[in-house]
Amino acid sequence: MKHTLALNGGRPVLKKPLAPVYNIGKKEMKAALAVIKNGPLSDFVGAQGDYFLGGKEVKRFEAAVCRKFNTKYAVSFNSATTALHAAVAALGIGPGDEVIVSPFTMSASATAILMNGAVPVFADIDEKTFCIDSASVRKNITPRTKAIMVVNIFGGPADFDGLLKIAREFNLKIIEDNAQSPGAKYKGRYTGTIGDIGVFSFNVHKVIQSGEGGVLVTDNKKYALRAQLARNHGEIVADQMGDEYGEGPIIGSNYRMTELEAAIARVQLGKLDFLNRERTKLVKYLTRELSRIEGLTLPHVARDTTHVFYVYPIKFDERKVGIPRDLFLKAMSAEGFPMGAGYVKPLHLLRLFQEKKAFNQTHFPFEGSHYAGSVNYAKGICPVSERMYKKELFNVTVCQYPRTKKNIDLFMKALEKVLAHKDELARR
Ligand SMILES: Cc1ncc(COP(=O)(O)O)c(C=O)c1O
Repeated sequence: MKHTLALNGGRPVLKKPLAPVYNIGKKEMKAALAVIKNGPLSDFVGAQGDYFLGGKEVKRFEAAVCRKFNTKYAVSFNSATTALHAAVAALGIGPGDEVIVSPFTMSASATAILMNGAVPVFADIDEKTFCIDSASVRKNITPRTKAIMVVNIFGGPADFDGLLKIAREFNLKIIEDNAQSPGAKYKGRYTGTIGDIGVFSFNVHKVIQSGEGGVLVTDNKKYALRAQLARNHGEIVADQMGDEYGEGPIIGSNYRMTELEAAIARVQLGKLDFLNRERTKLVKYLTRELSRIEGLTLPHVARDTTHVFYVYPIKFDERKVGIPRDLFLKAMSAEGFPMGAGYVKPLHLLRLFQEKKAFNQTHFPFEGSHYAGSVNYAKGICPVSERMYKKELFNVTVCQYPRTKKNIDLFMKALEKVLAHKDELARR
């Protein structure tokens, strides 16, 4: 017998919502307590001297990041957003310059460019990986292009062979926004370490977390030093420190990670492989279960890459399933499984870009004598991103540890229940 849909007043499959994903345990508590007991909670000073680079925990965390990802330098931040801002600044990118970025990402990937006075140029995504499409990048290169901001979205790597080739050909830098993909790999290399600079996030929703937090990694000493200036009132320090830090103008800020966050982030980093392994087991199980459902395109993992499935992206074929995606998601939500529809509105469609107004009523940096280009943010410039957002994509988060196969069984039960009622839904 078909049970009544929760959307039509029936009993939902899930009686109470799944517990939030939370992986902070005894080790993190111990590390945090030690900081609280012994202090200080932050050990940065925005001036030349021993404390310019932060305290004991910050340095231990940065050393652990370098060991884990095999990079020469790691500079911690209070978020990935601020680390991305510093990454663009460290590369000396500013007014008059363009950086190519995907619009199918969290807004910080693009606003980091804007906040430096440079212009984001949006290239479309590849519909298998949802990451920036090399062919679209190539089409968007101008004499003003300085870098590509490559976002490894949803836990999976972009097409680095293609992107590195373009970067070499046009002498462009690559910044990796790896906020969602710690532990992912492309041909044996960790994402975040393939470009010139990589950035990770440790906010509360991420694979590993310290509440808020981020880190920038690079093998280039100059970039690391410039990032340290951006993090901690560099305008003071560059004057005081002279040569090593003195190259080019810099405006710093307070983007400093606390000792407490660093202590927690270090323990979490130690759990990364475990968390990714557990998630991958659930992903395999979910993939097996979903493969019998008609009309869904399951995530593509290219050969010689490792996906860590921050979220599990699915493409929905309205014609094959028989109902629109958003109606399906509404019915699933009523059964107890709310899911993100379309991920995010592609960034070029935000008012910020449509009106080209970032700083009050001026059109800086999009227009003016400093900028020789004419960037286009019209609807339709990134058709794949727009289609994913509007019609096709939805994201599942049921694979995040400590969720279980039982949770996935319930998810499948809800999904099959909704699809068994699709004719009834289609008549709504
Ligand atoms: C792709 C991407 N970039 C950047 C960020 C910003 O991270 P944070 O919250 O640490 O500033 C996020 C966070 O949602 C993200 O998903």
